[in-house]
Amino acid sequence: MKILGIETSCDETAAAVVEDGVKILSNQIASQVEIHARYGGIVPEVASRQHILAIIPILKQAMAEAKTTWRDLDGIAVTIGPGLAGSLLVGVNVAKAIALAHGLPITGVNHLEGHIYAGWLINRSINFPLVCLIVSGGHSDLALMRGHGDYVVLGRTRDDASGEAFDKAARILRLGYPGGPAIEQAARNGVASLQLPRAWLKGTNDFSFSGVKTALLRLVEEGKVSNEADAAASFQEAVADVLVTKTVAVAKERRVKQILLVGGVASNELLRQWLVNNSPIPVLVPEPVLCTDNAAMIAACGYYRFQAGKIDGLDLDVVPSLKLA
Ligand code: KG4
Ligand code: ZN
Repeated sequence: MKILGIETSCDETAAAVVEDGVKILSNQIASQVEIHARYGGIVPEVASRQHILAIIPILKQAMAEAKTTWRDLDGIAVTIGPGLAGSLLVGVNVAKAIALAHGLPITGVNHLEGHIYAGWLINRSINFPLVCLIVSGGHSDLALMRGHGDYVVLGRTRDDASGEAFDKAARILRLGYPGGPAIEQAARNGVASLQLPRAWLKGTNDFSFSGVKTALLRLVEEGKVSNEADAAASFQEAVADVLVTKTVAVAKERRVKQILLVGGVASNELLRQWLVNNSPIPVLVPEPVLCTDNAAMIAACGYYRFQAGKIDGLDLDVVPSLKLA
């Protein structure tokens, strides 16, 4: 079964063709990072315009790379949320037009669920139940997954998402945008010598990352940060420490068979290593290119949705504030 995946929820225009939810035939991504970097963050109007410019060329590239014709496709999976309304609309409308023109079934995918399905692109026989840590620019969710499409959210961030915290910390340290990769890069030349707080929120599985960001800002304002690399390393460790400790604790408590680490922040090498090294439960982390936004994960998720008979009509609409469960 060949599924075309389309992803335009944020600042990447992406299209991919995936066979049977596991085999990537193509995975094309047009990033807008350089355009938004000029403004120090994502400008929604600019993002939608760029999606409109990029979507058709990216679709053509994805179909060509997969050596696939419209007739070879079995369905279309498109991100409907969460994300920027104007950006989501571009992908959803293009997906509907293709579905109508070629008589293909369409299924709307939750972007967060899509991130989870990046796991199936690298290991088809993942055991349930599992705990997923989904860490992206807008979310830091801990979820229990009991089967395909079956989620219970165990915890989430009460303020900044971890990716958002990385982005803000990078701005504070004037390291540029996007912040996650910038902090990781700077941290390579530093040691975690700054004392930064960890919000444990004991007794809950929730996260909070605004405190550590504010603490960093204070130190900078008070002139106590003489070395940006050390500050970046300290910040990265403070965030990874909380994410790893809480994820391992909840996975043990729930006696799950697997931990899945996904989302843009999951491309962070320190976080990946710490989670793998500190978990008695097997950890699965997709390669970085499948952690950050892509359409292969949307197509993989779409495959399981089609298997479950979850087909949407052409009245499919965007849901900018969609939740995982
Ligand atoms: O999943 P994603 O690509 O897009 C959203 O769905 O938001 O995640 C983007 C987030 C950004 O906040 C970015 O700074 C962060 O992931 N990120 C990283 C790294 N690469 C991307 N954070 C830490 N370390 C990285 N290497
Ligand atoms: Zn994402």
